[in-house]
Amino acid sequence: MEFNVKDYKNVTLLNHPLLSHKITQLRDKSTKTNQFKLLVKEIAILEGYEALRNIETHLVEVETPIEKTLQPVVSRKKLCFVPILRAGLGMADGMLELVPGATCGHIGLYRDEVTKEPVEYYCKLPVDIDEMDVYLIDPMLATGGSAIDAVNMLKKHGAKKITFICIIAAPEGVKAFCEKNPDIPLYIGALDRELNENAYICPGLGDCGDRIFGTVKGAK
Ligand code: PRP
Ligand code: URA
Repeated sequence: MEFNVKDYKNVTLLNHPLLSHKITQLRDKSTKTNQFKLLVKEIAILEGYEALRNIETHLVEVETPIEKTLQPVVSRKKLCFVPILRAGLGMADGMLELVPGATCGHIGLYRDEVTKEPVEYYCKLPVDIDEMDVYLIDPMLATGGSAIDAVNMLKKHGAKKITFICIIAAPEGVKAFCEKNPDIPLYIGALDRELNENAYICPGLGDCGDRIFGTVKGAK
């Protein structure tokens, strides 16, 4: 497949040695559940630091030991993090370290084992999502089906300002996502080679949900 990430103006491929280092550890099949979960959280913090660069702030008065002053704070009520269950929950922990008071919505999707199409099983979003800056989070962008579906669900509930953050993306998923959503900023921690015949990302890290929650043999 012909693919050049630079053709997609909404995509930011993050590039930092600390991020790459942690993603390498995440890929390692000998990384156990505890460490894996911690890495996903740390990576979300590193990615979130970049992706949240333009969030809204407002001025509050604080009194320093010297004088009163007006200084910026994050308008956390306007921020909504939406993990795609299950694996997105691991990233939500990191995003909430950055902005502990942010609102969280949840979207439950799993890929059908045969068709690889996303199946919806849960959706709980804030009623005033239309006024919020929404950050959709999921570590894996493979075929793009889950992320595209989740964006459609967010839009159906009124979300207007959406950003998607993932850890590892396949070219196929980036292409599919951007063709449907050319105006949604997409932050990627690492861009991998391709999908295999089972729609797993290569080299990837395997099944992210299973590795975060230990639901695969030998994970502990
Ligand atoms: C994984 C991942 C994404 C999806 C990506 O979830 O967390 O949601 O696959 O694949 P796609 O781009 O081809 O849609 P999975 O369906 O395995 O569910 P889980 O998190 O509950 O394990
Ligand atoms: N979901 C995962 O968890 N891993 C992949 O490689 C693809 C989809």
